Amino acid sequence: MGARILGTGHAVPDRVLTNADLEEIVETTDEWITTRTGMKERHVAAEGQATSDFATEAARRALDMAGVEAAELDMILCGTVSPDMLFPATACLVQQNLGAGNAFAFDFSAGCSGFVYGLDIASQYLRTGAARKVLLIGAETLTRFVDWTDRSTCVLFGDGAAAVVLGASDDAERGVLATCVHSDGALWDAIHMPGGGSRRPANDPEIIGEGLPFIKMQGNTTFKTAVRALAGVSNEALDKAGLQYSDVRWLIPHQANQRIIEAVGQRLAIDGERVYSNVARFGNTSAASIPIALDELNRDGQIEPGDVLLMSAFGAGLTWGAAVIRW
Ligand code: UT7
Repeated sequence: MGARILGTGHAVPDRVLTNADLEEIVETTDEWITTRTGMKERHVAAEGQATSDFATEAARRALDMAGVEAAELDMILCGTVSPDMLFPATACLVQQNLGAGNAFAFDFSAGCSGFVYGLDIASQYLRTGAARKVLLIGAETLTRFVDWTDRSTCVLFGDGAAAVVLGASDDAERGVLATCVHSDGALWDAIHMPGGGSRRPANDPEIIGEGLPFIKMQGNTTFKTAVRALAGVSNEALDKAGLQYSDVRWLIPHQANQRIIEAVGQRLAIDGERVYSNVARFGNTSAASIPIALDELNRDGQIEPGDVLLMSAFGAGLTWGAAVIRW
């Protein structure tokens, strides 16, 4: 039994924040942001919008493409670290919006590795026959949690969501061929948000003054660990699938930084034309980044049946993982 992607979709807020806009907010320049990250603009949620809004829209598009009714879904998974609220799960809010009454729904927290973790979970359910149709979403509204006075993080993140509908299939040669996921909790503080959880709850009046409910990142450490981990786990997943780099049509890496994307492509000896990047237009959308890229490629007709896709991600946890898919 295999697990095939039947449809893809993405949705981002309309509002666009350019590097020039950021120059008005913090002491930064378009030149610094472009050369250090490759980012030019990112989408930012409007007041009142939240993660489930984009997630629902992305899910509708994916269901539409798949030709699957919401009532056919057995399982809804949402990878997010910026849910609408601590509970209930954003996946349950999406379930309600879609009217997917036959599914069970839950969120999981794997940072920017969320989509690859989700492919790992979904494919186990599909292969064992425990589910027949799964909606997997990566969705974030991280701009709500950036400190707009911290130039080292606030320029990096963007909002948005993307979804795929996966279905069980008898053809084990197509669909998800391999997944590998890892974490190292010893590096939890490389990317974290210390306030708003049970240790320093949002109702603690001190947390804002102490700067706790904001994303903190050790950029440089993260950068170096990311390149090594992404290359390593990509090798591992491709080996598991019994394939070579020459078989890969598209490397779709997590979109955190153009320099990371290029460094990973070079380490794996995959030429630039086969490495997809949209970081210039979306910034880092965390769990949404890989599925947004996948949906763009898919809707643009750039993936042919039989093409091999290698996705690799890295994020808070620290977590990392890779997936190999034959379209
Ligand atoms: O998605 C989860 C995984 N996340 C990642 O993979 C992110 C990985 N890290 C990165 O992408 C990069 O480390 C950053 C883009 C975050 C930072 O780039 P960097 O080349 O590592 O810069 P840096 O942090 O070493 O900072 C270099 C300098 C510092 O100034 P000094 O101390 O050298 O005078 C910073 O203060 O650049 C300064 N700086 C800025 N200058 C202008 C930091 N942010 C900015 C800014 N504008 N926005």
